[in-house]
Amino acid sequence: MTATLIDGKAFAAELRQRIADEVTRLKDRGITPGLAVVLVGEDPASQVYVRSKGKQTVQVGMNSYEHKLPAETSQEELLTLIERLNSDPAVNGILVQLPLPAHLDEAAVINAIDPAKDVDGFHILNVGLLATGQKAMVPCTPLGCLMLLRDQLGELSGKRAVVLGRSNIVGKPMAQLLLRDSATVTIAHSRTTDLPELCRQADILVAAVGRPHFVQADWIKPGATVIDVGINRTETGLVGDVDFAAASQVAGAITPVPGGVGPMTIACLLANTLTATARVN
Ligand code: GUN
Repeated sequence: MTATLIDGKAFAAELRQRIADEVTRLKDRGITPGLAVVLVGEDPASQVYVRSKGKQTVQVGMNSYEHKLPAETSQEELLTLIERLNSDPAVNGILVQLPLPAHLDEAAVINAIDPAKDVDGFHILNVGLLATGQKAMVPCTPLGCLMLLRDQLGELSGKRAVVLGRSNIVGKPMAQLLLRDSATVTIAHSRTTDLPELCRQADILVAAVGRPHFVQADWIKPGATVIDVGINRTETGLVGDVDFAAASQVAGAITPVPGGVGPMTIACLLANTLTATARVN
């Protein structure tokens, strides 16, 4: 069997076009959505992400406000900036790029963001709203995965899903979203026993462990849908958490790396910014 390729790049481009059309309609009413991105320090990967976010924000017609702060910025200085962004009506979405330098309290910073502007969906209120099935800001990467899964499979109800990874950014919210769509969900992690056997039961397998080519072809149920969240930089270039070449001979559908989940993340960030704007206008 050769799997269907799930083209996240094309899906993200279509999503951005729909967002741009909606921004045009908002502008006709005198409203321009604004996204503020805060970067503390000079982490090279974070710099690349932030640049990409700013560029795509402008491309869909939104205002982008970039705040680049030195690595030695104090907690108080950062909280003061967040307070200012919280009360700025031109700012509809706020994103603080992670990881923060070690001397800063990440949880305190995230929870200082107005939950209505928390386009990352990391604020404890949004985490709680999602966990209790209420209207929440949803983290961008799992939201992108969910969109691809719904597009590929239609109904997720009753499907068996295994999520590899239990991070607050991907694994846990992914599991919540699948549960909200009535899938039967298992979260697996580094201490899970009989991982291959567990994965073989999955109609939907989401890999978010950050280990190159971790998931083997014989872990995959024939015909399953495989979503690879991994972005691992190796000597041979960018690779996912799944052994793609072998897995695509077994899976029914699979996301490539690059060009799968990656492009969906920023598109969903823009979608969340639009949602945040719509809620106050
Ligand atoms: N660092 C890596 N991924 C993310 C993300 O989705 N949001 C933020 N704010 N920082 C990140």
